[in-house]
Amino acid sequence: MVTGATGNLGHSVVRAFLERGAHVAAPVRNESKAAELRNAVDELAGTIDDPHLITEIADIADQPAMGAFVEKVMRAWGRLDILANLAGGFATGSALDAQGIDALWKQNVRTTIATTAACVRPMRARGYGRIVSVGAISGLKARKGSAGYAMAKGALIRWTEALADELKGEGITVNVVLPSTIDHPTNRAAMPKADPKTWVSPAELASVIVYLCSEEASGVTGAAIPVTART
Ligand SMILES: NC(=O)c1ccc[n+]([C@@H]2O[C@H](COP(=O)([O-])OP(=O)(O)OC[C@H]3O[C@@H](n4cnc5c(N)ncnc54)[C@H](OP(=O)(O)O)[C@@H]3O)[C@@H](O)[C@H]2O)c1
Repeated sequence: MVTGATGNLGHSVVRAFLERGAHVAAPVRNESKAAELRNAVDELAGTIDDPHLITEIADIADQPAMGAFVEKVMRAWGRLDILANLAGGFATGSALDAQGIDALWKQNVRTTIATTAACVRPMRARGYGRIVSVGAISGLKARKGSAGYAMAKGALIRWTEALADELKGEGITVNVVLPSTIDHPTNRAAMPKADPKTWVSPAELASVIVYLCSEEASGVTGAAIPVTART
């Protein structure tokens, strides 16, 4: 299961999973972006009779809605081993802006918790799971204007530690990656004077996520891993 699959990082992560033979279920909120994703990975997406990529409109902040999507995935493929929580977003705002902070919390934290709660059930039943969320390096240190984002991404670190501890001994690992600026067209357009060579590429970040979701990463759990490339 990959959330945020229609985003800049999402395309790279979905591709990386499909290339390694995984099947990917992607809850989306925009059908035309889902079609773009399917086109972008068309050669890896399987066939109508044997789809390797399923996209479906589902609200990732709504646990029952995600539970229904998980049931559909279980009927299609019989298991759900991996959850990559990529969905999230950034906005600047004052540390005194309660409404703005609430919105960033919902977008980055509530979505992750609701989706994970739905996906953990089949993982627990099978005694195996890999959960990786995308935080941000700014979750470690806030600056002026970044309160809501840094608080939300910082909360994902503490949440990861707590959930990893909760699931210890059940074969399920829980980790969070902390990227600095990701090199993609949206960031290049927003920061034309910056040097994108120092930024982490989506492929570099996808490799770390895919590794943490592999069987051989069984020894890593509760970790917050900076992925800051050349920053
Ligand atoms: N960009 C960076 O430099 C950077 C740095 C550090 C961490 N991150 C984190 O990395 C992750 C991916 O970032 P990105 O650069 O790929 O961002 P992006 O291109 O804006 O993609 C974000 C994805 O999340 C989805 N999404 C956002 N809010 C949602 C909501 N409330 N409900 C459902 N889906 C939602 C978006 O759906 P739609 O396509 O429908 O909009 C999109 O698929 C995010 O968690 C971000 O915070 C990014």
